[in-house]
Amino acid sequence: MSDYPFFFTWTAQNAAKPVELTGGEGAWFTTADGSRWLDLGALAYQVNAGHGQRRIVEAIKRQADQLCLSTANAVYPAKTELANKLLAMAGPGYAKVFFTLGGAEANENAIKIARQVTGRLKMISRYRSYHGATMGALALTGDWRRPPMEPLIPGVVHVRDCECERCAQGNRPGATCVQGMARVFDETMRAEGERTTAAVFLEPVPGANGAWVPPPDYWPAVRAACDKDGALLVADEVLCGFGRLGKPFGHQHWGVVPDMITVAKGLASGYATIGAVIVHERVARHFDANVLACGLTYYAHPTSCAAALECLSLYEDEQMFGNAERLGPVLLRELDAVAARLAVPAHVRGLGLLAAIAPQAPLDRWTTLSAELAARKLSLHVEAKRGTAIFSPPLCITEAELVTGVRSFGDAAVAAFGGK
Ligand SMILES: Cc1ncc(COP(=O)(O)O)c(C=O)c1O
Repeated sequence: MSDYPFFFTWTAQNAAKPVELTGGEGAWFTTADGSRWLDLGALAYQVNAGHGQRRIVEAIKRQADQLCLSTANAVYPAKTELANKLLAMAGPGYAKVFFTLGGAEANENAIKIARQVTGRLKMISRYRSYHGATMGALALTGDWRRPPMEPLIPGVVHVRDCECERCAQGNRPGATCVQGMARVFDETMRAEGERTTAAVFLEPVPGANGAWVPPPDYWPAVRAACDKDGALLVADEVLCGFGRLGKPFGHQHWGVVPDMITVAKGLASGYATIGAVIVHERVARHFDANVLACGLTYYAHPTSCAAALECLSLYEDEQMFGNAERLGPVLLRELDAVAARLAVPAHVRGLGLLAAIAPQAPLDRWTTLSAELAARKLSLHVEAKRGTAIFSPPLCITEAELVTGVRSFGDAAVAAFGGK
């Protein structure tokens, strides 16, 4: 048994390799052994605003001094201001926010809201997805984390995703394959029974499952399929939201208006635990006269709201979403250069500051790569396992840091997979 008195997540306890975090600044974090790591993963995709942001810490302190305790249906300025800010970011038509403590709970409550509003049971999501670890969110999840826990909540159907890596059309505008991929939703809704689907849950770009960017027409086609059947469309923006893809919300790249948007991670950049469901007026109005059968003791905790508000201001003041948009092509260029150095073929893809490289190499070489990354003097935090390395640095990273980091990763990848 490991020496630690608590569990590590998503791992056998004897295989856990913890690091002791001591702090950080910008795109860097420090550990107790004196190392300084370049954080090319934003820890677990949440530190969008960067490490060591004193403004957020001070906002939490001020709020704690003023009002630290609350109850779900109390009101206070930070809660109202944050809700208004989120509605404004989502765009015209959004009317209400439901607060949660994180991403899984946001999806959990979106499931409940969709079922209450439509009176329907079924949900459709994709195999290439992660929506959270609670029973409803895990039922939506398509990846390896779901099967060990089945049976989960009933009524969830999974469909295939865009597979641009297998398609000669790539993800170019006007790709005809899109209609086929989006038709999967239409066909599944009909096969499952017309007008029985409550909602479709999609990540704008499946994040932890490899930064798969859909073709431009994909989201509008899924929206059309939902409209035809009367199903709601939920954008899971837990990972893609708050500038990760270079826009406030990822789905805004494709001009669609989801019925609900679920968020967490970058909402307070990990400085406090908070998530939310941002609900369109056409859904929210159902609860004017019907009981909203959802609730949490720590709903909209004052210190979490204060942290999120300050985090959103910081994004604006330091134009971090713009930085992500500007550096996205740099990240892809550098990853293409890494791919060109490798002896094995590698697929590169991404949008904004979320990108992936997938060298076609045996999995044991990936273990070598991860060990090598961790052991380097210039430590790099990169999610590199199961055949894909994913890059999602804090949005405040500089171009020089990004380029140096990806090139160092390239050296480690050449050492692990072989170079040309
Ligand atoms: C797209 C997506 N949805 C939901 C979640 C779950 O969020 P949380 O871990 O805050 O419950 C995650 C977490 O990685 C995620 O990436």
